[in-house]
Amino acid sequence: MEAALKLARHHTKRKYFIAFYGGFHGRTYGAMSLTASRVIQRQYFGPFLPVVHVSYPNPYRPFGFKTETCDVDVIRYIEEEIFPMEVSPDEVAAIVVEPIQGEGGYIVPPRPFLKRLREICDEHGILLIVDEVQSGCFRTGTFLASEQFGVVPDIVCLSKALGGGFPLGVTVASDEVMSWPPGSHASTFGGNNVACAAGLAALTVMDKPGFGDHVTEMGEYMTAKLLSLQKRHDLIGDVRGMGLMIGAELVRNRTTKELAKQERSRILNEAFRRGLTMLPAGESVIRFCPPLVIEKQHIDTGMEILDKSFEMLQPMPAV
Ligand SMILES: Cc1ncc(COP(=O)(O)O)c(C=O)c1O
Repeated sequence: MEAALKLARHHTKRKYFIAFYGGFHGRTYGAMSLTASRVIQRQYFGPFLPVVHVSYPNPYRPFGFKTETCDVDVIRYIEEEIFPMEVSPDEVAAIVVEPIQGEGGYIVPPRPFLKRLREICDEHGILLIVDEVQSGCFRTGTFLASEQFGVVPDIVCLSKALGGGFPLGVTVASDEVMSWPPGSHASTFGGNNVACAAGLAALTVMDKPGFGDHVTEMGEYMTAKLLSLQKRHDLIGDVRGMGLMIGAELVRNRTTKELAKQERSRILNEAFRRGLTMLPAGESVIRFCPPLVIEKQHIDTGMEILDKSFEMLQPMPAV
């Protein structure tokens, strides 16, 4: 992410960035300036790089209150409020976005959203940086999630699965964008031989024919299981995702969508006690991002444990 920010500034000679609330891009200074998912990650660390944050189009909790137009509303906000009132587009180096918000709550934006961002970027000479650190490497069924949104970014950031467990992150751009001279950017362990060898091995596995199809198939299987759990447990307000990047948002009441934070902790603890490790995301979401080589029988086992964990949960008094 640091390389992406530096590259965008170097290439455009502009200073500002636009990023999204709920976004998580890391905790180093540049990345932290973009990150706006939990205040604890920013508290007492400012001032930051000049980043203007806008709402992310969350169909379940829409900015502008309408699910159907939540992406258009965000785009209009950028064009009609940010650009005329806060920062001129010709000072914006890049818009930085996660195609699916990860830490922010496994939020899948409406399909046209990324294309609309691409259009704004093209119109104003702004670069589109897509953070695929979590969503990339076939997590959603294709190598990049942005492929499924029909968008080619100017700069892509990849990591996590890329190194097959070794610390490896890459910043990818065309020759035209990555035109800075040697010495503009480097780091001691960048291009570490062992991590790169692990990365090549991981890419060889991902390259196998049908790898992405397996992810899509398992993702559909797991989503169907979660949707049937949703019928049995009122606490599950929403199930959404792409491939094996799936989130289940827990609410105390499906109409008011009151967050079920404590219930989520108790479910996660109960499931852990029974042998299933899951991570939270956002304020009351459980994230499902299993290994991509998972098979149906593993999903069945996990879902049985999850079902039992929901059954064990005593209802909490409404606040
Ligand atoms: C989308 C995304 N970008 C960037 C990062 C930052 O990774 P790191 O903390 O290793 O810098 C993460 C980590 O979870 C992430 O999910």
